[in-house]
Amino acid sequence: MEFSVKSGSPEKQRSACIVVGVFEPRRLSGVAEQLDQVSEGYLSNLLRRGDLEGKAGQMLLLHHVPNILSERVLLVGCGKERELDERQYKQIIEKTIHTLNETGSMEAVCFLSELHVKGRDTYWKVRQAVEAAQAGLYTFNQLKTRKEEPRRPLRKLVFNVPTRRELPLGERAIQHALAVSKGVTICRDVANMPPNICTPRYLAEQAEAMAANYDNLTFSAVEEKEMAELGMNAYLAVGRGSENESVLSLLHYQGAGDDVAPLVLVGKGLTFDAGGISIKPSANMDEMKYDMGGAASVLGAMQALAELQLPVNVIGAIAGCENMPDGKAYRPGDILTTMSGQTVEVINTDAEGRLVLCDTLTYVERFSPETVIDVATLTGACIIALGHHASALMSTHNPLAHELLNASEQSGDRAWRLPLWDEYQDALDSPFADMANLGGRDAGSIAAACFLSRFTKKYHWAHLDIAGTAWRSGAKKGATGRPVPMLTQFLINRTATGQQD
Ligand code: BES
Ligand code: MN
Ligand code: ZN
Repeated sequence: MEFSVKSGSPEKQRSACIVVGVFEPRRLSGVAEQLDQVSEGYLSNLLRRGDLEGKAGQMLLLHHVPNILSERVLLVGCGKERELDERQYKQIIEKTIHTLNETGSMEAVCFLSELHVKGRDTYWKVRQAVEAAQAGLYTFNQLKTRKEEPRRPLRKLVFNVPTRRELPLGERAIQHALAVSKGVTICRDVANMPPNICTPRYLAEQAEAMAANYDNLTFSAVEEKEMAELGMNAYLAVGRGSENESVLSLLHYQGAGDDVAPLVLVGKGLTFDAGGISIKPSANMDEMKYDMGGAASVLGAMQALAELQLPVNVIGAIAGCENMPDGKAYRPGDILTTMSGQTVEVINTDAEGRLVLCDTLTYVERFSPETVIDVATLTGACIIALGHHASALMSTHNPLAHELLNASEQSGDRAWRLPLWDEYQDALDSPFADMANLGGRDAGSIAAACFLSRFTKKYHWAHLDIAGTAWRSGAKKGATGRPVPMLTQFLINRTATGQQD
């Protein structure tokens, strides 16, 4: 879909549809008021007759409004004016896009970007609207033989901003939103792909294909043979029960000079997590195809980064692997020597993510990174703690934690910090090895992060547990594309092309 911004008055628009807000109870927004005057009270008459209360999300589509050049006017209920917050704004936009898509307007001029949302500027409103529009149009139907598409889908959406002065802000918002949306889309596509197709090799192919599209993106891969030479025994152990070979894919993005230390994004890429010998119960086991959501989000963030051509150096590491039970599979009781030299007693083969990640975190030391952020669907405990609204953030470096929390707040892709105090480390004690691969039942997400922290001493490090946020269950199940918006915002903020200039 195509997006643009302009600054004009509603009655002068000649479009298939113009979209304006109505507040509760039955109060026209400023823009709707203008239309009302031109149409000699047509809108206020409707409201008086009770056709629209103005409750958030209500829609009323009007045709041939007198003296209005546009074919249609879509009145959108925005709730009580003083209560319009971020969440409501996004919901209203989503509903609007849905309605436009269903009612035949192939283009529209939207004035909802002029609504007052507490604490948010034009940049934010346009950016969120474009992202919501793109997300709302997403479908994953490659594998359906009959694809249902809207007959006359929305093709072009223009956002109106109050003053010409704000046009550059709006344009930048669209540019950023489109890059984020592209990243979110690839993340969702790859994560939704079933595990018989989306194998570690498939992840590598996706990364390679992406690199082929951009000059400053290059691809390389670490195969099992090289992993063995490097002593990445924890990573290899997890994949041993699978017929699909493990592959660590690397995407190198160079946007700054050679002398600038890179930032590394590491993604857990378990293309299927059956639990291994500590096999999972069968209910909802299909959802363990999303156990590569971290890897998918790294792919997505690299895509957004390459689109934006930001002046930073970033390496994306996609730790592809499959955890299956088999005669060759690793077992509870095994003691593994990690690439770092530290030994790990395996208590449960279902705590595999940390084993794949620990060797990857050691591997990336060779890039002398300034900062490493890993993203992983690491623990079910994370869903118990935070549900599906926030990703869990854990970090040993306060400034980095704050940077990520800011980015999450700005992008609306929320994260919440959990502590990583030394006291929690004791849970990992093992009588036979340097550590066990899990603690007890307590604070499972923190214990997992504590485990990882032992492999991250050479750089600033943060960990995002996205077990609750990477996908939705239930009737509308599917990948969400999170935390691509947060990661992309984090990268944008690290450059001089931040939103305000
Ligand atoms: N991939 C799972 C975590 C997970 C569970 C993500 C549910 C999303 C939804 C991870 O590999 C796992 O199995 N973790 C175990 C750890 C336990 C054995 C210490 C868990 O959370 O139960
Ligand atoms: Mn597991
Ligand atoms: Zn897992």
